[in-house]
Amino acid sequence: MTDFINIALPKGRLGEKAYQMLKNSGYDCPEIEQPSRKLIFENPEKGVRYFWVKPSDVAIYVERGAADLGIVGKDILLEYQPDVYELLDLNMGKCHMAVAGKKDFRDPVGRTLKVATKFPNITQTYYNGKCRDIDIIHLNGSIELAPILELSHVIVDIVETGTTLKENDLVVYERIVPISARLIANVASYQFKSEAINTIRNSLEKQVEST
Ligand code: PRP
Repeated sequence: MTDFINIALPKGRLGEKAYQMLKNSGYDCPEIEQPSRKLIFENPEKGVRYFWVKPSDVAIYVERGAADLGIVGKDILLEYQPDVYELLDLNMGKCHMAVAGKKDFRDPVGRTLKVATKFPNITQTYYNGKCRDIDIIHLNGSIELAPILELSHVIVDIVETGTTLKENDLVVYERIVPISARLIANVASYQFKSEAINTIRNSLEKQVEST
């Protein structure tokens, strides 16, 4: 029986780029390149099986061993602190976690700062470090609306091109941390499939170094 390496890819552009890197490393799976709504693809000859997963769920699949490897943003690793091995910075999907708000915003010193975000743990840790008292408003998307509608004073969110902020008349105040995509491994898989996993990791590293 083929001992597959199971790889969770984040649905979307980042996952497609990651698949291309894996393909360049020899782990192609022709079926995944055909348009379809399928979520699992395997190539028994190469010993790989891919799953398309919601980006924020990749670390869950890897942590619980449903996938041996996964591609995930550092934002997810910082927010959820999953018990996985971070094997490689893929140097793609690069963006920043930042504090942003209206252009004329002034911090209401002495009052609780209302912060809207999809990342409550990153936000709390950041403001703990500044000894700033905050009220976190946990949203699931379109975070930029919050300061515009005065739901919050500021937001903590991902900024990639800056277009979303610009088109909504918002600006960055502080950069919190740079973000990029990481290759992660399940802890037990890394022990039992170490040779195959390290072969994949080292091949991806060579591609990262040559870009
Ligand atoms: C993310 C993020 C920002 C936007 C930043 O949102 O939350 O809204 O991308 O990208 P930009 O700087 O290139 O404009 P996403 O597309 O994940 O949608 P969401 O509103 O559902 O969070």
